[in-house]
Amino acid sequence: MEPLGIEVDAPAGETVMDAVRAQGYFWPVGCARNGECTNCAMEVISGLGRVSAMGRFERQNLIRQRGPRAVENPRLRLACQTRAEGDIVVYKRGVEPE
Ligand code: FES
Repeated sequence: MEPLGIEVDAPAGETVMDAVRAQGYFWPVGCARNGECTNCAMEVISGLGRVSAMGRFERQNLIRQRGPRAVENPRLRLACQTRAEGDIVVYKRGVEPE
């Protein structure tokens, strides 16, 4: 993941955020990691075809918090909702060692 330049193994079914947090990193959040605040939003730099599909709740909250154009960019995803289904690279500022 960038810009930290770390590599993380994500067990199947685990969200991107949980996989990174399990390695001892802080990930910025503003809710109970339930898809409401969108503070955890990340950019999927590569592997867009290897992330879980966006659910209705994630879509609704991205629109509500960031406006309709937010969902026009498929690379913008909520880390607390998105699961990797293969190798991906994501970008998120503010992720740092705890
Ligand atoms: S942590 Fe709030 S939407 Fe992901």
